Amino acid sequence: MDLNKLFNISDEVILLLGFTGPIGRQFATVFAESGCTLVLGDNSENGRDLAESIKKMNRNTEYIRLDVTDETDVRDAVSYVAEKYGLISVLVNNFSARPEGFYKKFEDSELGCWNEVLNVNLSAMYLSSREVSKVMMRQGYGSIINVSSVHGVIAPDQRVYGGSGLNSPAVYASSKSGVIGLTRYLAAYLGKYNIRVNSICPGGVNPGNVDKGFVDEYSTRIPLNRMADMEDMKGPVVFLASQASRFVTGQSIIVDGGQSIW
Ligand SMILES: NC(=O)c1ccc[n+]([C@@H]2O[C@H](COP(=O)([O-])OP(=O)(O)OC[C@H]3O[C@@H](n4cnc5c(N)ncnc54)[C@H](O)[C@@H]3O)[C@@H](O)[C@H]2O)c1
Repeated sequence: MDLNKLFNISDEVILLLGFTGPIGRQFATVFAESGCTLVLGDNSENGRDLAESIKKMNRNTEYIRLDVTDETDVRDAVSYVAEKYGLISVLVNNFSARPEGFYKKFEDSELGCWNEVLNVNLSAMYLSSREVSKVMMRQGYGSIINVSSVHGVIAPDQRVYGGSGLNSPAVYASSKSGVIGLTRYLAAYLGKYNIRVNSICPGGVNPGNVDKGFVDEYSTRIPLNRMADMEDMKGPVVFLASQASRFVTGQSIIVDGGQSIW
C-alpha cells in the first residue's frame, strides 16, 4: 500500500459524535478536508451552525441532532446513516459532559453530577459502540475511536489548578479510565469481525482563550513545554481512522506532549 493510500480516508463514512468543542472541531475539520462522507452528531445549541460551516469545506457533511444518552436517538441515528450511506466505516465517540457542579471540590461533589457524567462519558459510549458495531459486523470491518483523556491514565496533578477555579474531578478520571477499559474489551470482542477499537488520550488543549497563569503553570509540567493546540489531535485521529493503523487495536494513544512520562 503506498503512502497516500495508507492515510486516505476519502471513501469512508465517518460518524463523529460530539464535535462542537476544541477537539471535536479539530476532528470535524480534518475529516472534512479528507473528502470523506461525514455525519456530525451532537445536542448542543450551536451544533447546526457549526455543521453548516464545516459543510462549506465538504459538501458530503450532514448534521444530526441527537442526545447520545438516549437509546432511541442513538438507534435512529445509526440506522439512518447505515441505510442512507450503506455503511459506517468509522465511529468517533468524542462527547463528554460537564454538568452544573462539575468543578466542585471532591468533598463537596454530588452523586447526581457523578451519575450524569458517567452516563454521558461512559454509558453513552457503550450505547453508540453497541449500535454501530452491529453495522460494522455486517460489513466486515470498521474502526471505533473512543476519546479518553490523559487523566484516564494518570491522576490530575492538583497543583496546576491553583486558584483558577478549574478542576479535573474524580468522576472525570473515573469515566476516562472506564473508556480505556471499554476500548480494550471491545477490541478483544470485535477483533474477529475485523473491527478495530482504540482510544485517544489527549492532554489539556488550549483553544487560545485559557487563563495565561494556568497555561504557564500547566506547561511547566509538560516535556514539550506547552499545552496542546488546535492542530495537535488531527494526526492521531486520521491515523486511527485510516489503513495506516490497520494492525492497531485495543490501544490508547496518549497525545499529551509527554505529560504522562514523568
Ligand atoms: N479539551 C481538552 O482539553 C480535553 C483534554 C482531554 C480529553 N478531552 C476529551 O476530548 C473530548 C472532546 O473534548 P472537547 O474539549 O472537544 O469537547 P467538550 O468537552 O467541549 O464537548 C464535548 C462535546 O460533547 C457534546 N455532548 C455532550 N453531551 C452530549 C449529549 N448528551 N449528546 C450529544 N452530544 C453531547 C457537546 O455538545 C460537545 O460537542 C471529550 O471526551 C473530552 O473529555 C478534552
